[in-house]
Amino acid sequence: MCGIVGYVGDRQACPILLGGLRRLEYRGYDSAGVAMVMPDGDLAVYKCKGKVDALEKYLDGKATDATIGIGHTRWATHGEPNDTNAHPHYSADGRIAMIHNGIIENYRVLKEALQAHGVVFRSETDSEVLVNLIEYIRTTEGCDLAEAVRRSLKRVVGAYAIAVIERGNTDRIIAARQSSPMAIGIGNGEYFISSDASSIVEYTQDIVYVGDGEVAVVERGKALQVFTLDNQEADIQVTRLDLSISDLERGGYPHFMLKEINEQPRTIVDCIRGRVNPDTGQVILSGIRDNIDRWLGARRVIFVACGTSWHASLIGKQLFESMCRIPAEVEYASEFRYRRPVLFPDDVVIAVSQSGETADTLAAIALAREAGAFVYGICNVIGSSIARGTDSGTYIHVGPEIGVASTKAFTGQVTVMAMMALALGERKGTLSAAQYAEVSRGLLALPDQLREVLSHSEQIADLAKIFTYARNFIYLGRGYNYPTALEGALKLKEISYVHAEGYPAAEMKHGPIALIDAEMPTVAIVPHDSTYEKTLSNVEEVKARGGKVIAVMARGDEMVRRIADYVIEVPSAVECLQPIIVSVPLQLLAYYIAIYKGRNVDQPRNLAKSVTVE
Ligand code: G6P
Repeated sequence: MCGIVGYVGDRQACPILLGGLRRLEYRGYDSAGVAMVMPDGDLAVYKCKGKVDALEKYLDGKATDATIGIGHTRWATHGEPNDTNAHPHYSADGRIAMIHNGIIENYRVLKEALQAHGVVFRSETDSEVLVNLIEYIRTTEGCDLAEAVRRSLKRVVGAYAIAVIERGNTDRIIAARQSSPMAIGIGNGEYFISSDASSIVEYTQDIVYVGDGEVAVVERGKALQVFTLDNQEADIQVTRLDLSISDLERGGYPHFMLKEINEQPRTIVDCIRGRVNPDTGQVILSGIRDNIDRWLGARRVIFVACGTSWHASLIGKQLFESMCRIPAEVEYASEFRYRRPVLFPDDVVIAVSQSGETADTLAAIALAREAGAFVYGICNVIGSSIARGTDSGTYIHVGPEIGVASTKAFTGQVTVMAMMALALGERKGTLSAAQYAEVSRGLLALPDQLREVLSHSEQIADLAKIFTYARNFIYLGRGYNYPTALEGALKLKEISYVHAEGYPAAEMKHGPIALIDAEMPTVAIVPHDSTYEKTLSNVEEVKARGGKVIAVMARGDEMVRRIADYVIEVPSAVECLQPIIVSVPLQLLAYYIAIYKGRNVDQPRNLAKSVTVE
């Protein structure tokens, strides 16, 4: 949420900053801006409401020949999206400029104190308070910028990733973080700063992740230095990022979301590679194997997650209960952290997060750690805060997900959970050899099955055209596919702004059935599974009330075809893996409805890919 970039080196900073901001636009796109120290030492700040395109137009004809600068793309928290509230913010005396991702919780108190000293504010943002605090400390305490940043941050409560530059210094950026991501790319005599390392991979693959409560001095011609807020020099670890630029491009697709949907046969291969032996079906996950005592001794498994990751966790709960016979719970991270949840040292808390940066999930982890629980991460982004802040974990390895609506991460998360449940179920002896073999074979069959689903894309696009008029949808599913129904509905809401509800099919008659009419389509998930007959009855109930039904059904199911108005055929899988297959046509349905409604699929209004504020 909010993207930040920085550059210092020998090249022109502006094109690098704009390129970085474009890659970070998925984090927010309410406004954008850059600040640079010009060759004559002047501080230039350009910012405006709207996307990076608007900023680029605004910059046309302006002097931008600096070799040091910072840039920001905003997802508004404090203050509406407008030119004034856009970042970078600068101190009242115009001496220093700063970009900020996060929230300064005690900004009101700090603002009043600064106002009492005569500081005049232009914007409504918490960030402008911080930049003025830094400048106030720099001038009144007579220290240099790095020291002023350090001293200011000791007075701040909240989350931040910041980068600061000052008039007259063409060599140095001061960067710091607490609970918001920040990576520094080390180039040849140049440095790149970003809230997401993948945005700078075209320049360098050598990345230093700034730790919580650390301040980095990023200076041209000098080695990187990192200090703690207590002024101790911190160790610097350089991580090599294994990403290629093509992972970050649309690759011929009109939208990242469509690219990512279509990548799924390959991303599942990447996810299971080296973990499911294609010859024997044996599943080996180091996160289970290396911590087997914690897993075998687990009293409970508690999933904490948000959004799509929460839906995947609902499937994880069923997988762990049925295959490992462990009590499993699923919590919204944002609720969990503000209750006083009962946690035991022998609990295993599984944090599920595509980005690995979701603020609420991070806070839930902290709570679990305090209670002494074993904390396990299921993340996509390598080196992310959650990946680094957990005791152990499994990456889903689906590559960068850039479309705001999560697609391949969901199927990757469920795949990882199935592998975990298999590996642990085998060790616990709660799975028969036949069940184990069936599910592991099922995992290996997924890529081909997904290819088959994707071959029906055109038919799903036609169906979407028919239903573009609808203002409300209901999605029904049972068992493993109840979370799939929730996820299908979420996809539609997120990108088409059509109201959609996911419901357990049998619960429909306890309320939502009152909504059924010819205007509200029902998407019914009716594969050949243990709830098939029951779900079919629920579909009949919808039909009996004049509802229109789109059924997602097993290939060749004549019974469902007779009852439903429209059908989407999918291959049959083992019951617990069916959500991976069913979710793909639901992603496509949402995608095409949004396209026909003229929505901006990759950048839906009000949303951000990674929510790093609470
Ligand atoms: C945001 C995104 C969702 C995502 C959720 C959790 O709301 O728009 O697509 O599911 O955050 O993100 P995480 O990175 O923790 O999985």
